[in-house]
Amino acid sequence: MKKTLLITGGAGFIGSHVVRLFVRKYPEYRIVNLDALTYAGNPENLKDIEHAPNYVFEKGDITDEQLVPALFEQYRFDGVVHLAAESHVDRSITDPLAFIKTNVFGTANLLNAAKNAWKDHFDGKRFYHVSTDEVYGSLGKEGYFTETTAYDPRSPYSASKASSDHFVRAYQHTYGLPTLISNCSNNYGANHFPEKLIPLAIHNIKNKKPIPVYGKGENVRDWLWVNDHARAIDVIFHNGNIGETYNIGGHNEWTNIDLIRELCRIMDKKLNRKAGESAELITFVKDRAGHDLRYAIDSSKLQRDLGWEPSLQFEEGLEKTVDWYLNNQEWLDNVINGAYQDYYTKQYVEREQ
Ligand code: NAD
Ligand code: DAU
Repeated sequence: MKKTLLITGGAGFIGSHVVRLFVRKYPEYRIVNLDALTYAGNPENLKDIEHAPNYVFEKGDITDEQLVPALFEQYRFDGVVHLAAESHVDRSITDPLAFIKTNVFGTANLLNAAKNAWKDHFDGKRFYHVSTDEVYGSLGKEGYFTETTAYDPRSPYSASKASSDHFVRAYQHTYGLPTLISNCSNNYGANHFPEKLIPLAIHNIKNKKPIPVYGKGENVRDWLWVNDHARAIDVIFHNGNIGETYNIGGHNEWTNIDLIRELCRIMDKKLNRKAGESAELITFVKDRAGHDLRYAIDSSKLQRDLGWEPSLQFEEGLEKTVDWYLNNQEWLDNVINGAYQDYYTKQYVEREQ
């Protein structure tokens, strides 16, 4: 094996696409996936590569101060791609401390273990932290987030991610740890947990349940196909300049209501419903507290310096995503368990009362 890499959060939505890409593309690497398998982590996401000879799964928590250094000792990692996090804004509003624990302390625990294990011999080592565009706050109708936009996080989730970014930069500045950070816009695609807008809407449309749209549906998000995010992570991990930040985005802005209407149109076609039938399910509900109006990423640095660009048009990606959910009912049935039903009732039924 040429290199051993630690990927955290590899059983989650984006992490599973990153693990699959690295395991298949780099047979000479050993990929160790550390994941606590929270409600958002699902070993089914990696069924197709679970027996690959260069893949190892370690169930464990990134906040564990004994386990993480022990794994560095055992595997002698050459690099880290850190994705494990609590990732859902709505959950951060009801349980902020869980986000501080995992996203802030967990990241610091990993940084510390890397610094101690690598003992200031950082040649060839890389610690790559995967972050979000939400650290930059909320845009008005104009403008884009660039790598130099001032941080202005406004939810407990984005504040915890901003804090973790600061710790990454502090370890680079203070100890010389070779770090990289990327801040990406909203992802969509296969294996997305159905608490997030697109998979939740697909599931509800299919089952003729109300599609909950927060407020008036005027908030704007910039959507990127998850496989294109994984490709960007590969390029940045291997070719990015140490100490730098790269913004990743799809140049693909949609208001929530337009996005949901497009999804309804695609699903009417796929499910042989009459045009407009699914859109009747759209239901405007109480807005998210502190709901950021608009995110939009300027990813020209990544495109110019590292030659990455999105591979897929949104309408095509959305159709592929709908197909994936319609063809993977068993995956969906497994994640829509009792805990999901409790979450759904608290978030969408009790909140409205
Ligand atoms: P996800 O919620 O689908 O998956 C998170 C994974 O981390 C799960 O497998 C979970 O089990 C694991 N995990 C959570 N807490 C852990 C802990 N304490 N120890 C070990 N493992 C733990 O998240 P995602 O949407 O795939 O996001 C992955 C990363 O990308 C996150 O850091 C997130 O902030 C960032 N990000 C996400 C998006 C997006 O649109 N989803 C966009 C930009 C950045
Ligand atoms: O921008 C990157 C971020 O995108 C990531 O860092 C987060 O991990 C990821 O969850 C995502 O955050 P959002 O809050 O933008 O995603 P979510 O799918 O929760 O919501 C998308 C938009 O849809 C947002 O404006 C809120 C709205 N929404 C969401 C849900 C779940 C609804 O209108 N109804 C819903 O039921």
